[in-house]
Amino acid sequence: MPRRPPRALLALAAAALATLSITVAVAAGHPAPTTLPAGGLPYQDPSLPVADRVHDLMSRMTLDDELGQMTQAERAALNPQSDLATYRVGSVLSGGGSAPSPNTAQSWADMYDNFQRIALSTSLGIPMIYGADAVHGHNNVYGATIFPHNIGLGATRDADLAQRIGHATAEEVSGTGIDWDFAPCLCVARDDRWGRTYESFGEVPEIPTAMTSIITGLQGATLGGPASVLATAKHYIGDGGTTGGVNEGNTQLSEADLRAIHLPPFKAAVDKGVGSVMISFSSWNGVKDHGNHYLITDLLKGELGFGGFVVSDWAGIDQIDGQSGFSAADVDAAVNAGIDMVMVPTDYKGFLNTLRAEVNNGHIARSRIDDANRRILTKKFQLGLFEHPYTDRSYTATVGSADHRALARQAVRESQVLLKNAGGILPLAKSSKVFVAGKSADDIGNQSGGWTISWQGGSGNTTPGTTVLQGIRSAVAGSGSVTYDRYGNGITNGYTAAVAVIGETPYAEGQGDRPGGLGLDQEDLATLSRLRASGVPVVVVLVSGRPLDIAAQLPNWNALIAAWLPGTEGNGVADVLFGDYAPTGKLPVTWPSSSSQEPINDGDGQTPLFPLGYGLTYPGGGTATPPPTTTTTTSPGPGGCAADYSVTSTWQGGFQAAVTVTNRGSAPISAWTVSWTWPGGQTVTNVWNGTYTQAGTAVTIRNASWNGTLAPGASATFGLTGTGTAAIPTMACS
Ligand code: BGC
Ligand code: BGC
Repeated sequence: MPRRPPRALLALAAAALATLSITVAVAAGHPAPTTLPAGGLPYQDPSLPVADRVHDLMSRMTLDDELGQMTQAERAALNPQSDLATYRVGSVLSGGGSAPSPNTAQSWADMYDNFQRIALSTSLGIPMIYGADAVHGHNNVYGATIFPHNIGLGATRDADLAQRIGHATAEEVSGTGIDWDFAPCLCVARDDRWGRTYESFGEVPEIPTAMTSIITGLQGATLGGPASVLATAKHYIGDGGTTGGVNEGNTQLSEADLRAIHLPPFKAAVDKGVGSVMISFSSWNGVKDHGNHYLITDLLKGELGFGGFVVSDWAGIDQIDGQSGFSAADVDAAVNAGIDMVMVPTDYKGFLNTLRAEVNNGHIARSRIDDANRRILTKKFQLGLFEHPYTDRSYTATVGSADHRALARQAVRESQVLLKNAGGILPLAKSSKVFVAGKSADDIGNQSGGWTISWQGGSGNTTPGTTVLQGIRSAVAGSGSVTYDRYGNGITNGYTAAVAVIGETPYAEGQGDRPGGLGLDQEDLATLSRLRASGVPVVVVLVSGRPLDIAAQLPNWNALIAAWLPGTEGNGVADVLFGDYAPTGKLPVTWPSSSSQEPINDGDGQTPLFPLGYGLTYPGGGTATPPPTTTTTTSPGPGGCAADYSVTSTWQGGFQAAVTVTNRGSAPISAWTVSWTWPGGQTVTNVWNGTYTQAGTAVTIRNASWNGTLAPGASATFGLTGTGTAAIPTMACS
């Protein structure tokens, strides 16, 4: 059941639009009051099974109603906005950077609610579903938390972290009304020259497969729960396998290899209940995926049993026949291949006319239209859109919240990969005299990469956050000092270390393709030689969407950290530089010794600069106090409930812990509660796989809806983030 809180005022506004509406009391077990038109038609009854509601609704829909559900228009293309109702358009999207003005979470929510009000004004009142690319946090929204791009998350190998990031992203997305996230990219990037390499969790299928946990974070255990956002597995299939790493190119592989390399993450996503799948612009052996019936209908929907709906990519169907724009042949091929919703995204009227003509002339069977509608409407019902069509404003304040930024900082720390540390120069003492240089040292835009505020991203102060330089400044303490010059001018030999933060500037999709090689640019090379000439040891922090061609420069560097595209929380980089966190990141891709090795992948017999999985750490775990290694175990409480607590990581001002609850009794437990009193002013800031309250120093954690039942011997684990000094409390479990 949907468990979003009621939005009384908005519900009233909706009621005013719908004629003859009455408010009905809800049956026990339905937590939120619901507004239903008089008569309460079966499809409007949340107590009926979703399949029955879909069936009833479809029996009332005209062909035009159904064609509209299959149509997705870009927000700015909907002109006038009332076309949403006039043409029964079922879905709206924001393309990269397409935002309301002013670009605030509040005005996103207002924009969303306005579109929804229009959609609900039709006689059947079918809510629209709004999609956007929240691919590293809710990245179109100014002030949102920007998490590391997927390549950095792949370096963490931390599937639980990815799930928590999915949940945090879903909260920010929900707070702006958006129902649907075009993420995650489950691409397996096989050629680093591809401009979307950073959207990939890694070059071998195992890494993206593990990281499909982010889908559970986005959607929740079931669709329709609090902050539940429909996820998208994209881009199906083979987007990262194109010849030469060409974006939207041709993946030339045997079926056995396509299945072995590119299919596993999609299979895992389907098994996790992903609600939608987006088709890849690319071709497989010369045939555009957008028109491939075998891949979409036979393999994805048939063999893998995908029950959600398939969406095309941005004007992706247009490319099927090789002519610009969509033709009748494109529309036939796409819909008959199994695409359920078309991201048009501009000419929705023309698309609807073409689709209608192709149904009327029999080129597209009515049963295919019905199947597409059944799939789309099922997800709209499961998301709870009919009961709760408007923005859940209780989440709006989570956009860019301190908790989410703390989680992002944790992700940044975990994603740093230490590749070289000659003489153990790292971690730097906090009392060091540090000279900082490089074009990405003090640049939120560069450290966030593409898909940040705008489609391509951009350099400069694009959104609030902490730059790497600011992180370094706040880490340095005591007699230490920080001097900064972007170009490295003014450095003398009086410094402990020179930190060069260099690499790539933002790009997205094809504009990031680098067929000509992956070397450093002239500015970076000039900065590096100024630093080098001073005789001060050089520590390089490489901010990039992929491995770069650095073999010729590496001997001149004392240390190298691959920081990937960390996002807004640059203090996570400083945490590693100064040893508050000893590096744990491992390469999610093979690092070439030269661009000419591309494509280079694990097991292909080439000798890389650093192999897949490479990553150093600090002997002894850095200068930070290592996490307490002891765990406490309660003696089993009533009913045999026992809990084990261990601190999993610590940093300045905070810590993370994992608690495993085990049923040591002989009867099943149906719900559990773990409680303790903090010894030293700690505060819980976030809990996953459980719900928490803290009153004063007393903490109570209860099971989440999905992990309360424990058979004898079974256990469930929840995690928490806290502020203050890590402590091992004395727990009670019941
Ligand atoms: C990209 C997709 C994205 C869509 C909507 C396309 O160009 O390939 O990844 O979801 O645009 O912005
Ligand atoms: C949009 C992106 C989209 C791209 C496709 C851009 O104008 O903003 O969302 O992915 O076009 O080429």
